[in-house]
Amino acid sequence: MTNSRPSSDTSERVALVTGASRGIGLEVCRQMAERGFVVLLTARDAAKANSAAKKLGKVGGVESLVLDVANASSIKKAAAEVASRYGYLDVLVNNAGINYDTWETVENADISGTVMETITTNLLGPWRICQAFLPLLRKSRAGRIVNVSSESGSLANMGAGPPAYQVTKAALNALTRTLAGELRGSRILVNAVCPGWVATDMGGAGAPRSVREGAAGIVWAATLPENGPTGGFFRDGKPLPW
Ligand SMILES: NC(=O)c1ccc[n+]([C@@H]2O[C@H](COP(=O)([O-])OP(=O)(O)OC[C@H]3O[C@@H](n4cnc5c(N)ncnc54)[C@H](OP(=O)(O)O)[C@@H]3O)[C@@H](O)[C@H]2O)c1
Repeated sequence: MTNSRPSSDTSERVALVTGASRGIGLEVCRQMAERGFVVLLTARDAAKANSAAKKLGKVGGVESLVLDVANASSIKKAAAEVASRYGYLDVLVNNAGINYDTWETVENADISGTVMETITTNLLGPWRICQAFLPLLRKSRAGRIVNVSSESGSLANMGAGPPAYQVTKAALNALTRTLAGELRGSRILVNAVCPGWVATDMGGAGAPRSVREGAAGIVWAATLPENGPTGGFFRDGKPLPW
Protein backbone atom coordinates (compact mmCIF):
# COMPACT_ATOMS: atom_id res chain seq x y z
CA MET A 1 0.00 0.00 0.00
CA THR A 2 1.26 3.49 -0.86
CA ASN A 3 2.10 5.85 1.99
CA SER A 4 -0.07 8.95 2.37
CA ARG A 5 1.46 12.41 2.55
CA PRO A 6 2.85 13.21 6.01
CA SER A 7 0.58 15.23 8.35
CA SER A 8 3.08 18.11 8.24
CA ASP A 9 2.37 18.44 4.52
CA THR A 10 0.69 21.78 3.76
CA SER A 11 0.19 21.20 0.03
CA GLU A 12 -3.10 22.09 -1.60
CA ARG A 13 -6.19 19.95 -1.27
CA VAL A 14 -7.22 18.74 -4.71
CA ALA A 15 -10.77 17.81 -5.74
CA LEU A 16 -11.92 16.35 -9.05
CA VAL A 17 -15.53 16.62 -10.25
CA THR A 18 -16.92 14.75 -13.26
CA GLY A 19 -19.63 16.12 -15.57
CA ALA A 20 -18.88 19.68 -14.47
CA SER A 21 -19.61 21.54 -17.71
CA ARG A 22 -23.01 22.62 -16.32
CA GLY A 23 -25.67 21.89 -13.73
CA ILE A 24 -24.88 20.46 -10.31
CA GLY A 25 -21.28 19.49 -11.19
CA LEU A 26 -20.38 23.06 -12.11
CA GLU A 27 -21.87 24.35 -8.84
CA VAL A 28 -19.99 21.69 -6.82
CA CYS A 29 -16.78 23.02 -8.42
CA ARG A 30 -17.72 26.58 -7.38
CA GLN A 31 -18.43 25.59 -3.78
CA MET A 32 -15.28 23.46 -3.47
CA ALA A 33 -13.18 26.34 -4.87
CA GLU A 34 -14.82 28.69 -2.32
CA ARG A 35 -13.62 26.28 0.37
CA GLY A 36 -10.03 26.61 -0.85
CA PHE A 37 -9.68 23.38 -2.83
CA VAL A 38 -7.81 23.28 -6.10
CA VAL A 39 -10.63 22.02 -8.30
CA LEU A 40 -10.11 19.87 -11.37
CA LEU A 41 -13.24 20.71 -13.34
CA THR A 42 -13.70 17.90 -15.81
CA ALA A 43 -15.94 17.54 -18.87
CA ARG A 44 -15.94 15.26 -21.88
CA ASP A 45 -15.53 18.23 -24.21
CA ALA A 46 -12.30 20.27 -23.87
CA ALA A 47 -13.90 23.56 -24.97
CA LYS A 48 -16.74 23.16 -22.43
CA ALA A 49 -14.26 22.27 -19.66
CA ASN A 50 -12.13 25.33 -20.46
CA SER A 51 -15.01 27.77 -20.61
CA ALA A 52 -16.61 26.43 -17.40
CA ALA A 53 -13.26 26.64 -15.56
CA LYS A 54 -12.80 30.18 -16.87
CA LYS A 55 -16.23 31.16 -15.48
CA LEU A 56 -15.08 30.07 -12.02
CA GLY A 57 -11.64 31.65 -12.34
CA LYS A 58 -12.51 34.47 -9.92
CA VAL A 59 -13.73 32.06 -7.23
CA GLY A 60 -10.44 30.20 -6.79
CA GLY A 61 -8.05 27.66 -8.24
CA VAL A 62 -10.07 25.87 -10.90
CA GLU A 63 -8.31 23.90 -13.61
CA SER A 64 -9.92 22.19 -16.57
CA LEU A 65 -9.34 18.58 -17.57
CA VAL A 66 -10.92 16.38 -20.23
CA LEU A 67 -12.64 13.29 -18.83
CA ASP A 68 -15.31 11.32 -20.66
CA VAL A 69 -16.70 8.95 -18.05
CA ALA A 70 -18.04 6.64 -20.76
CA ASN A 71 -14.58 6.14 -22.25
CA ALA A 72 -12.06 3.91 -20.43
CA SER A 73 -9.02 5.38 -22.17
CA SER A 74 -10.15 8.95 -21.39
CA ILE A 75 -10.40 7.95 -17.70
CA LYS A 76 -6.90 6.43 -17.71
CA LYS A 77 -5.48 9.50 -19.46
CA ALA A 78 -7.09 11.86 -16.94
CA ALA A 79 -5.75 9.82 -14.00
CA ALA A 80 -2.25 9.90 -15.51
CA GLU A 81 -2.55 13.68 -15.92
CA VAL A 82 -3.59 14.17 -12.27
CA ALA A 83 -0.73 11.87 -11.19
CA SER A 84 1.71 14.02 -13.11
CA ARG A 85 0.23 17.41 -12.03
CA TYR A 86 -0.26 16.57 -8.31
CA GLY A 87 0.64 12.97 -7.50
CA TYR A 88 -2.40 12.66 -5.19
CA LEU A 89 -6.13 13.38 -5.05
CA ASP A 90 -8.17 14.32 -1.96
CA VAL A 91 -11.74 14.36 -3.26
CA LEU A 92 -13.42 12.54 -6.13
CA VAL A 93 -16.99 13.53 -7.01
CA ASN A 94 -18.61 11.12 -9.48
CA ASN A 95 -21.29 13.54 -10.65
CA ALA A 96 -21.79 12.90 -14.38
CA GLY A 97 -25.10 11.18 -15.03
CA ILE A 98 -27.54 10.80 -17.90
CA ASN A 99 -30.89 9.54 -19.14
CA TYR A 100 -33.78 10.18 -16.81
CA ASP A 101 -35.65 7.90 -19.20
CA THR A 102 -39.28 8.69 -18.41
CA TRP A 103 -40.15 7.72 -22.00
CA GLU A 104 -39.28 4.04 -21.34
CA THR A 105 -40.63 1.16 -19.32
CA VAL A 106 -38.84 -2.07 -18.40
CA GLU A 107 -40.97 -3.80 -21.01
CA ASN A 108 -40.13 -1.54 -23.94
CA ALA A 109 -36.71 -0.13 -22.97
CA ASP A 110 -34.01 -0.05 -25.66
CA ILE A 111 -31.54 -2.46 -24.03
CA SER A 112 -28.73 -2.10 -26.55
CA GLY A 113 -29.34 1.66 -26.83
CA THR A 114 -30.46 3.74 -23.84
CA VAL A 115 -29.98 1.03 -21.24
CA MET A 116 -26.38 0.16 -22.22
CA GLU A 117 -25.53 3.85 -22.57
CA THR A 118 -26.93 4.58 -19.11
CA ILE A 119 -25.09 1.65 -17.52
CA THR A 120 -21.84 2.76 -19.18
CA THR A 121 -22.12 6.34 -17.93
CA ASN A 122 -23.95 6.08 -14.58
CA LEU A 123 -22.41 2.85 -13.25
CA LEU A 124 -19.32 1.74 -15.16
CA GLY A 125 -18.05 5.33 -15.38
CA PRO A 126 -17.85 5.83 -11.59
CA TRP A 127 -16.55 2.25 -11.19
CA ARG A 128 -13.71 2.73 -13.68
CA ILE A 129 -12.96 6.16 -12.26
CA CYS A 130 -12.69 4.76 -8.73
CA GLN A 131 -10.28 2.10 -10.02
CA ALA A 132 -8.17 4.66 -11.88
CA PHE A 133 -8.04 7.26 -9.08
CA LEU A 134 -7.81 5.06 -5.97
CA PRO A 135 -4.00 4.95 -6.08
CA LEU A 136 -4.03 8.79 -5.93
CA LEU A 137 -6.77 8.92 -3.26
CA ARG A 138 -4.71 6.54 -1.11
CA LYS A 139 -1.99 9.19 -1.04
CA SER A 140 -4.41 11.71 0.52
CA ARG A 141 -4.56 12.31 4.27
CA ALA A 142 -8.36 12.41 4.00
CA GLY A 143 -9.67 10.85 0.80
CA ARG A 144 -13.36 11.33 0.03
CA ILE A 145 -15.42 9.74 -2.73
CA VAL A 146 -18.92 11.04 -3.39
CA ASN A 147 -21.13 9.18 -5.82
CA VAL A 148 -23.93 11.46 -6.96
CA SER A 149 -26.95 9.21 -6.88
CA SER A 150 -30.70 9.75 -6.65
CA GLU A 151 -33.55 8.73 -4.42
CA SER A 152 -34.89 7.21 -7.68
CA GLY A 153 -32.33 4.47 -6.96
CA SER A 154 -33.70 3.74 -3.49
CA LEU A 155 -35.11 0.20 -3.43
CA ALA A 156 -37.10 1.04 -0.30
CA ASN A 157 -39.40 3.42 -2.19
CA MET A 158 -39.00 2.11 -5.74
CA GLY A 159 -41.93 1.56 -8.06
CA ALA A 160 -42.54 2.21 -11.76
CA GLY A 161 -40.28 4.97 -13.07
CA PRO A 162 -37.46 5.73 -15.51
CA PRO A 163 -36.05 2.18 -15.73
CA ALA A 164 -32.47 2.64 -16.94
CA TYR A 165 -31.99 5.57 -14.57
CA GLN A 166 -33.49 3.87 -11.50
CA VAL A 167 -31.61 0.62 -12.05
CA THR A 168 -28.24 2.33 -12.61
CA LYS A 169 -28.62 4.57 -9.55
CA ALA A 170 -29.55 1.52 -7.41
CA ALA A 171 -26.42 -0.19 -8.75
CA LEU A 172 -24.34 2.92 -8.03
CA ASN A 173 -25.59 2.77 -4.45
CA ALA A 174 -24.49 -0.89 -4.28
CA LEU A 175 -21.08 0.07 -5.67
CA THR A 176 -20.84 2.76 -2.98
CA ARG A 177 -21.53 0.32 -0.15
CA THR A 178 -19.22 -2.34 -1.57
CA LEU A 179 -16.29 0.02 -2.05
CA ALA A 180 -16.87 1.65 1.36
CA GLY A 181 -16.72 -1.84 2.90
CA GLU A 182 -13.44 -2.59 1.12
CA LEU A 183 -11.95 0.72 2.27
CA ARG A 184 -13.17 0.58 5.88
CA GLY A 185 -10.21 1.33 8.15
CA SER A 186 -8.47 3.35 5.44
CA ARG A 187 -8.51 7.17 5.33
CA ILE A 188 -11.00 7.12 2.45
CA LEU A 189 -14.72 7.69 3.10
CA VAL A 190 -17.17 6.70 0.35
CA ASN A 191 -20.79 7.89 0.29
CA ALA A 192 -23.71 8.28 -2.09
CA VAL A 193 -25.62 11.56 -2.15
CA CYS A 194 -28.96 12.53 -3.67
CA PRO A 195 -29.05 16.25 -4.47
CA GLY A 196 -32.87 16.34 -4.46
CA TRP A 197 -34.93 17.50 -7.42
CA VAL A 198 -32.82 20.32 -8.83
CA ALA A 199 -33.48 22.81 -11.63
CA THR A 200 -30.90 21.76 -14.25
CA ASP A 201 -31.13 20.45 -17.81
CA MET A 202 -31.89 17.04 -16.29
CA GLY A 203 -34.22 18.23 -13.52
CA GLY A 204 -36.09 20.76 -15.66
CA ALA A 205 -36.95 24.38 -14.96
CA GLY A 206 -39.89 23.44 -12.69
CA ALA A 207 -37.71 21.67 -10.10
CA PRO A 208 -38.06 23.13 -6.60
CA ARG A 209 -34.37 23.18 -5.64
CA SER A 210 -31.54 25.40 -6.87
CA VAL A 211 -28.16 24.05 -7.95
CA ARG A 212 -26.75 25.78 -4.87
CA GLU A 213 -28.97 23.71 -2.56
CA GLY A 214 -28.40 20.49 -4.53
CA ALA A 215 -24.62 20.89 -4.57
CA ALA A 216 -24.38 21.72 -0.86
CA GLY A 217 -25.16 18.15 0.24
CA ILE A 218 -22.51 16.82 -2.14
CA VAL A 219 -19.91 19.25 -0.78
CA TRP A 220 -20.89 18.18 2.76
CA ALA A 221 -19.97 14.57 1.89
CA ALA A 222 -16.81 15.71 0.08
CA THR A 223 -15.54 17.55 3.15
CA LEU A 224 -16.49 15.13 5.95
CA PRO A 225 -14.21 15.04 8.98
CA GLU A 226 -12.01 12.03 9.76
CA ASN A 227 -14.72 10.44 11.93
CA GLY A 228 -17.45 11.05 9.35
CA PRO A 229 -19.71 8.31 7.99
CA THR A 230 -18.78 5.92 5.19
CA GLY A 231 -20.98 3.62 3.12
CA GLY A 232 -24.05 5.85 3.59
CA PHE A 233 -26.73 7.40 1.39
CA PHE A 234 -27.59 11.02 2.19
CA ARG A 235 -29.48 14.12 1.16
CA ASP A 236 -28.62 17.43 2.83
CA GLY A 237 -26.41 15.51 5.27
CA LYS A 238 -29.31 13.32 6.47
CA PRO A 239 -29.56 9.56 5.80
CA LEU A 240 -31.90 8.29 3.07
CA PRO A 241 -33.35 4.77 2.96
CA TRP A 242 -31.53 2.39 0.60
N1 LIG B 1 -31.24 17.42 -11.45
C1 LIG B 1 -31.86 16.60 -10.59
O1 LIG B 1 -33.04 16.83 -10.20
C2 LIG B 1 -31.15 15.39 -10.06
C3 LIG B 1 -31.80 14.61 -9.09
C4 LIG B 1 -31.14 13.50 -8.56
C5 LIG B 1 -29.87 13.18 -9.00
N2 LIG B 1 -29.27 13.95 -9.96
C6 LIG B 1 -27.92 13.54 -10.40
O2 LIG B 1 -27.04 14.65 -10.30
C7 LIG B 1 -25.99 14.52 -11.28
C8 LIG B 1 -25.87 15.81 -12.08
O3 LIG B 1 -27.13 16.04 -12.71
P1 LIG B 1 -27.55 17.44 -13.35
O4 LIG B 1 -28.96 17.65 -12.95
O5 LIG B 1 -26.53 18.49 -13.09
O6 LIG B 1 -27.55 17.01 -14.90
P2 LIG B 1 -27.27 17.84 -16.22
O7 LIG B 1 -27.60 19.27 -16.01
O8 LIG B 1 -27.94 17.09 -17.31
O9 LIG B 1 -25.68 17.72 -16.38
C9 LIG B 1 -25.10 16.46 -16.60
C10 LIG B 1 -23.61 16.63 -16.69
O10 LIG B 1 -23.06 15.34 -16.94
C11 LIG B 1 -22.16 15.47 -18.03
N3 LIG B 1 -21.96 14.21 -18.75
C12 LIG B 1 -22.86 13.43 -19.37
N4 LIG B 1 -22.25 12.37 -19.93
C13 LIG B 1 -20.93 12.50 -19.66
C14 LIG B 1 -19.78 11.74 -19.97
N5 LIG B 1 -19.84 10.62 -20.69
N6 LIG B 1 -18.58 12.17 -19.51
C15 LIG B 1 -18.48 13.30 -18.77
N7 LIG B 1 -19.53 14.07 -18.48
C16 LIG B 1 -20.74 13.66 -18.91
C17 LIG B 1 -22.77 16.54 -18.92
O11 LIG B 1 -21.78 17.02 -19.83
P3 LIG B 1 -22.11 17.57 -21.32
O12 LIG B 1 -22.30 19.05 -21.15
O13 LIG B 1 -20.90 17.21 -22.10
O14 LIG B 1 -23.35 16.86 -21.79
C18 LIG B 1 -23.18 17.54 -17.84
O15 LIG B 1 -22.09 18.31 -17.41
C19 LIG B 1 -26.36 13.31 -12.13
O16 LIG B 1 -25.64 12.18 -11.68
C20 LIG B 1 -27.85 13.12 -11.85
O17 LIG B 1 -28.27 11.79 -12.05
C21 LIG B 1 -29.87 15.03 -10.50
